[in-house]
Amino acid sequence: MAMEMAMSKSKLMSKSSEGGAEDDAVFLHPPQDLEDGALFLPGDLPPPLRLSRMLRVDQAGEQGAVRIYGGQRALLKEGEVGELIAHMAEQEEVHYRTFNDLLNKHAVRPSLLAPFWHRIGYALGYGSARLGSESAMACTVAVEEVIDAHYAHQLEWLRRFREEEELLDTIERFQAEEAEHRELGLAHDAEGAPAYPLMQRVIKGMARLAIRIAERL
Ligand SMILES: [Fe+2]
Ligand SMILES: [Fe+2]
Repeated sequence: MAMEMAMSKSKLMSKSSEGGAEDDAVFLHPPQDLEDGALFLPGDLPPPLRLSRMLRVDQAGEQGAVRIYGGQRALLKEGEVGELIAHMAEQEEVHYRTFNDLLNKHAVRPSLLAPFWHRIGYALGYGSARLGSESAMACTVAVEEVIDAHYAHQLEWLRRFREEEELLDTIERFQAEEAEHRELGLAHDAEGAPAYPLMQRVIKGMARLAIRIAERL
């Protein structure tokens, strides 16, 4: 135990490994200050495992976002909304490619459910656009709000451990763009969608569930 307590931060932050039984491991040490003062709390996942989960879920989420806007673009190509969707789709492509590169860099496997995210993302985008441009925007608002909060949570963790500064900058930049997508959705009549509150509840619930699943699978 004493040896474990003395585990250096550099060891904790060693590059990510893949799961197995390790996936369920949690560190049960009392709160302790790591070398530079970063606080490690009881119940925290070991940082390498946390990092691999973080990259996996982000890559899957950005894949889903690319597909949502792809589905919306299939039906909404014209006018201001068409241009807006194309703009957001381009940014999601950059996010997705960036996380693909990060998965490779850290030797983290993608989500096993990638084919499912591919289909469900497109279905959500296409289905919402079928209901009209307001519903497409309502879908954007719901998804982006969940992603914004998800990135905020990750940033908190990255700041606490004062590691992976490049990743922290990347997520900060993407978070700002996701928040902008949400604002653009609201500015383009998202709230005029039929059953807007219900849509928000359902889509946000789906997005939160997808995040929990993609972190682990
Ligand atoms: Fe994104
Ligand atoms: Fe986005």
